[in-house]
Amino acid sequence: MSEVTPDVLKGTIASLRKVVRHHERLYYVFDEPEISDKEYDILIQKLRSLEEANPNLITPDSPTQRVGGFPRDGFVKAPHSSPMLSLDNAFTKNDLLDFDRRIRDLSGLAIVEYVGELKLDGISLSVEFSRGHMTRALTRGDGLIGEDVTQNARTIKSLPLLIENEEHFPLQFEVRGEVVMDLRSFERLNSERLKENQPTFANPRNAAAGALRVLDPKITASRTLNFFAYMIPAANPPFASHQWEVLEALHSMGFKVNPHRERLRGIDEISNFYDKWQKQREGLPYEIDGLVIKVDPLSQQQILGTTAKAPRWAIACKFAAEQAVTVVEAIDVQVGRTGAVTPRARLKPVMVGGAQISRTTLHNEHEIARLGLHIEDSVLVERSGDVIPKIIRVVKKAQNRRAFQMPSCCPICNTTLVRENDEVIRRCVNTNCPARLKESILHFSSRRAMNIAGIGDALVDQLVDQNLVSSVADLYTLQTSTLAKLDKMGPKSATNILENISLSRAIPFPRVIFALGIRFVGEQTAQLLANHFLSIRTMAAASLEDLQEIKDIGPRVAEAIQIFFGESKNCDLIDQLEKMGLQLEQKAMQTTGNRLEGVNFVLTGTLPTMSRDEATYLIEQHGGTVTSTVSTKTNYLIAGKTTGTKLAKAQEIGIKIITEEELRGWINKDNN
Ligand code: IVH
Repeated sequence: MSEVTPDVLKGTIASLRKVVRHHERLYYVFDEPEISDKEYDILIQKLRSLEEANPNLITPDSPTQRVGGFPRDGFVKAPHSSPMLSLDNAFTKNDLLDFDRRIRDLSGLAIVEYVGELKLDGISLSVEFSRGHMTRALTRGDGLIGEDVTQNARTIKSLPLLIENEEHFPLQFEVRGEVVMDLRSFERLNSERLKENQPTFANPRNAAAGALRVLDPKITASRTLNFFAYMIPAANPPFASHQWEVLEALHSMGFKVNPHRERLRGIDEISNFYDKWQKQREGLPYEIDGLVIKVDPLSQQQILGTTAKAPRWAIACKFAAEQAVTVVEAIDVQVGRTGAVTPRARLKPVMVGGAQISRTTLHNEHEIARLGLHIEDSVLVERSGDVIPKIIRVVKKAQNRRAFQMPSCCPICNTTLVRENDEVIRRCVNTNCPARLKESILHFSSRRAMNIAGIGDALVDQLVDQNLVSSVADLYTLQTSTLAKLDKMGPKSATNILENISLSRAIPFPRVIFALGIRFVGEQTAQLLANHFLSIRTMAAASLEDLQEIKDIGPRVAEAIQIFFGESKNCDLIDQLEKMGLQLEQKAMQTTGNRLEGVNFVLTGTLPTMSRDEATYLIEQHGGTVTSTVSTKTNYLIAGKTTGTKLAKAQEIGIKIITEEELRGWINKDNN
């Protein structure tokens, strides 16, 4: 082997870092990876081994050096370069009108240009850069003096440690933004903490604050945080004359900038933006507590100036109250499809965030203990990013409060409840329990499973309670006359439902597996199982080892599948479903048409109505293929709302770009 000179080695490491940084940016900032996780792992591992062999060449901005340092005793305090102000609030449309009027009066303009942004509900952070290197991160503190959380902030993957095209930017500059934890990471963190008997966080903001202010950076690194940049607190940033351009510049520097920003002209467009987000906020993967409206031209911002507390050029608009106080009238328990018994609070009905709430889950006994909740107590309920309301805390203990006792037997079938392997949850193990059957039918019929519209709680209650259905297979033998006699049913709705049931026979095999409701078998696992075993019979006969041959299927899932098919009741069910004509085999090419045969697609950005999984499914159903990277083999790029690189690449190599609507148009032709 030829001798590698130190300079060559240094160069190799530097260019490897550049490549890793590029892919991290695509993944964490743009949400558009170009390589697989495995390929990324190989790259970072290569960098790590080169650095381990040459520790003198390690630099603090290397992607391998995000988690460093040791747990500390406390945080050092430091003053902000300029105060981190807060925002004035608008609670109603009238407040917004006043705001716009004030700005028009002060600026003398007839119509003011604004930027509308989401008000992310997290922790604000000020991050300093020197010659492109991230040098310090401070929390807001009291607005004048913050806490130095640099080591922790370095672990946030969407926050760049190095700005590469630094020559375009000032030698020293500061970026302010919000650190947020998305709802999925929040739920995951809380359920892990519950399992370990640790107190849970009340909301993602507290969880993000906790993660940012722990003394050990390793803990911050283990909690997925995101940094969204929203401003550069310089009077005259040389590269921008408008807030809009500041955001674009931040994005091109490699910062994550929230994509839901809009340029708004005048109050009418502000008002539309507000209405849109009041409705759409539930669909976001993180929490927002309102919107921020900012005057766009920085020159006007300067003229308007700030008060001691807040800038005059911006306002935060809050949405209708998402919290309310009500009384817990009772606590009952609900038996799920897998037998899990969960306590549920019955609430005195109350309006929260525009919807009436009368019940909410309490998850398990530990949650009740954590809240210190008794029946008759007054509680604060909240509807957050997800639609499911939750109890935040007890606000007043009732004098006549009663403690809740978790039952030891199933409230429906009286079977003794069992707690498996130290699980927090107790389960009803009776597979014939009517409550479990009801939940199984609801799951079987749900949109993502057999998609049988019209089957809801009220109908399922009647079907099971009147012994009309004793397994999901019985749905396929129901008669119009039987259904039509039920409460709130008539011949027309009965016929519709039966038609929907009948149509579900065509639902493809992977979704049938999912619909069976085997514990731990979600949609993705069902797809893996279908692809691997090709028929329900081979799948049912598979040993634990056979099952675990599939990548991503571990012992827990394999065991659950074996338990399911080990029950004679379930084997009978499969026989019956086969007789009813359901799809229990994976057809070699299970498509509903071949219009897209041989056509290769790449998806990018957020599509207007479908998730990427749904679009992929639809394309595959019609004979097409979907790949993740744009290449000369790509026939079409389906582009949603995006600022990513796939679009640019497709344009560069002349790939045709289409919309979701056009795709739907082609497919509909197939269905005719
Ligand atoms: S601009 C001068 N933009 O809201 C203050 N703030 O109530 C400029 N926040 O402390 C703040 N999303 O932590 C701004 N898109 C956004 C924001 C945002 C969330 C937070 C920020 C600030 C608080 C003010």
